[in-house]
Amino acid sequence: MISEEMANRINVQINREMYSANFYLALAAQAETMSLRGMAAWFFAKHGEELTHAMKMYRYLIDQDTAVRVSEIAAPEAVEESVIAMFEQTLAHEREVTVFIHDLVDLAHSEKDHATSIFLQWFVTEQIEEEATVNDIIGRLRLFGDQGQSLMLIDNELAGVAKQIGQAASAATA
Ligand code: FEO
Repeated sequence: MISEEMANRINVQINREMYSANFYLALAAQAETMSLRGMAAWFFAKHGEELTHAMKMYRYLIDQDTAVRVSEIAAPEAVEESVIAMFEQTLAHEREVTVFIHDLVDLAHSEKDHATSIFLQWFVTEQIEEEATVNDIIGRLRLFGDQGQSLMLIDNELAGVAKQIGQAASAATA
């Protein structure tokens, strides 16, 4: 059993993960309108990942015999309209999520809640990977350009990455 405070805070984080899913869906839709199919697929794959993050927390609360509160999800912030700005917005968002996850870890440590602390380690590692991936995309867009052939190459590359994310997600739920 976890503390009431911890249960509340994880419930808030479930809501934030659902928000993140919608945020990525809005980015996917924006990429679709720009005919960037690879980027749209990548953002859509991230949408799916965020839902799995929320469901991991959902399952953890259930396993800890704690109530899950499903609450209203705020509309995602307006999506930027240039390719680099969309990824910069993504990075800023993920950095914010990292802070929230670290805050949860701090609470787990202060409560000597070892179970939640171990549970959250997966999210700490996931955030490192998520920030690094987006940073890398921004770096490549800056280096090679966000128009013409370089944009097409990066878009194609992200289509491949999106496929891998999809395959990894199916393997994890099989
Ligand atoms: Fe659920 Fe993108 O972190």
